[in-house]
Amino acid sequence: MKFSVADYRSVRDRVDLLIVPLFEGEDASGLRLPVRIRRFLDKNVLKKADGFQAKRFSVLTVPVSAGPGIPPLMLIGLGKPEDFSADILARACGKAVRSISMPSMKSAAFLLRKQCVVQRNWQNLAQKVVEGFLLGQYDFRKYKEKSENRESSKLEEVFLVGATQRRRSDVESGIHRGQILSEAVCFARDLANEPANVMTPTRMAEEAQKLATEAGLSCTVLEKAEMEKMGMGALLSVAQGSDHPPKLVILEFKPDKRVESEPVAVIGKGVTFDSGGISLKPARNMDEMKFDMSGAAVVMGVMKAVAALKPSVSVVGVMPLVENLPSGKATKPGDIVKSYSGKTIEIQNTDAEGRLILADAISYVQKSYKPAFLLDLATLTGAVVVALGHAAAGIMGGDGRALEELVEIGNKVGERVWPLPLYDEYADQLKSNVADLRNVGGGPAGVTVGGAFLANFVEDRKKWIHIDIAGVAWTKEDKPLARKGATGFGVRLVVEWIETVAEKRILR
Ligand code: BES
Ligand code: MN
Ligand code: ZN
Repeated sequence: MKFSVADYRSVRDRVDLLIVPLFEGEDASGLRLPVRIRRFLDKNVLKKADGFQAKRFSVLTVPVSAGPGIPPLMLIGLGKPEDFSADILARACGKAVRSISMPSMKSAAFLLRKQCVVQRNWQNLAQKVVEGFLLGQYDFRKYKEKSENRESSKLEEVFLVGATQRRRSDVESGIHRGQILSEAVCFARDLANEPANVMTPTRMAEEAQKLATEAGLSCTVLEKAEMEKMGMGALLSVAQGSDHPPKLVILEFKPDKRVESEPVAVIGKGVTFDSGGISLKPARNMDEMKFDMSGAAVVMGVMKAVAALKPSVSVVGVMPLVENLPSGKATKPGDIVKSYSGKTIEIQNTDAEGRLILADAISYVQKSYKPAFLLDLATLTGAVVVALGHAAAGIMGGDGRALEELVEIGNKVGERVWPLPLYDEYADQLKSNVADLRNVGGGPAGVTVGGAFLANFVEDRKKWIHIDIAGVAWTKEDKPLARKGATGFGVRLVVEWIETVAEKRILR
C-alpha cells in the first residue's frame, strides 16, 4: 500500500473512497472539506435521528457517490474526544480498512484533522494512520487456496488530505515511520505465523542472515558444536530432544557515526515448537506452541526497523533458537545441567524451557557485548495470562523509573505493558536440594517466578527488563489491528523505547 500527502481537490476525482474520522456528538462543520460534502453529511448522515453516532470503532459506508464532487464516503467513529488517543485512531483505521469489502476500491483519501492531533504531533498522527491501515490489512493467507477468496480490502493507495502546507513535512515523515514500523511488525507476524515444520531453528537463522544482507546488519550464527565448546548446557539441554539442531543468532546494528557507545541488547525467546518435552503438554491448544518463538520474531522485526530508522545507539538482537520435543535423547525431569554462567540447574519440569535458553543467551550477551541495557521478550509463562489476560504484557526488573517509562511508551504505541514485582519470596521458590537452582518454583505467582529465575543470570538488574508476552503474542479473535494469529506485539514498543529512552540514557 502506498501513502502520500495530497490536496483533497487534486485527488477527489481519482479516489474510490473518502474516509472521514469523526468524534461522538460532532457535526460536519469542523471538517476541512468542501461545503457540499459537509452539507451532505449533516443532512443525510449525522443529523437524522438514526444517524451515525461515531461510537468508537463504528464504521458507516455510503457506498455510492452522493453527487458531483462527493466520492463514496466512509465515516469512522472515534468515540468521545476526552477518551481519544493516537492508538484509538490507529485502531479505527484498522477497522476502516477491514470494512472495505469491495476489491474494486483501490484508492482512498483519508482526512487528517487537527482535532485528531495529540500533543501537537502531526508526525505521530500520520504514523498512526499508516499503521492502522497496514496492520489492519495484514492477512496470513499463503497456505490458503487462491479460489477461497475472502472479501478483503485490496486498497493500494491512500492519500492523506487535510494537512496544512506547514505540516506537510511532519506528515511525510510520519508516513515514512509508519511504513517502516508496520513492515517490521508484519515481518515478525509472518515469521511467527509459519508452522513449526517450516519455521525451524535452522530456517529462523536463514531468515536472520537474509535480513542482515538486505538491511545492512551483521549476523553471527553460533552452531551446536560451538555452543557445546562454550558450555551452554542450559540451552543445549532444551534442544537435545529434537532432530533440529539449535542455533544462537546475533544480529547487530551500528550507527553510522563512530560513536563508541555500549549497545542495547534485545533478546527474544525462540522455541520454534514447545511440546513441553518429557513433561508433555496436554493436546488441547498445543498447536499454539508454534508461536513460542514470538520473542525471537519480535527481535527480527525490531532489527529490521532499527536498520531503517538508524537510531544513534548500537543495538544487538539475540535469538536462542531451539525446538522442545520429547525423545530418547530428551532431558528428563531431575536432570542437572551446567549453564554458560557456571551455575547448575536442576530441571524439574522440561516445560519450563524458555528460561533455560534465555539464561544462556543473557550470559552470552553480557560477556560478549557488555550491554548498557538489556531487554528480553518471551512467551514465558501461562501464568502471565492468568494475571493480565490478553490486555497487556507483564514487565519485571529494572528500576522503578525504567518500568514507568516502558509503561508510558506502551500506552503511546498501543502495546500495553504492566509491572510485576520481583520479591525475594519468588526467588526462594527456586532453591534446589541438589543444584544451584531449579527451573520451576512449584508455588503461586508463576509469572514472577519466571522473572526471578532469569534475574539469577543478570549482572545488573537495574539495567534489565523482562517482558512476558505469552498473553499478547498471538490472538484467537480478530482485533482491529490484528487478525487471528501472531500480533507482532513488542516491535513498536521496543523500537520506540530504543529511540527515546536508550538514546537519552546512553548518549547523555
Ligand atoms: N511456552 C510456555 C508458556 C505459555 C503457555 C505461553 C501457554 C502461552 C500459552 C512455557 O514454555 C511454559 O510451558 N511455561 C510453563 C512453566 C511452568 C512449567 C513453570 C507454564 O506456564 O505452564
Ligand atoms: Mn514450555
Ligand atoms: Zn515455552
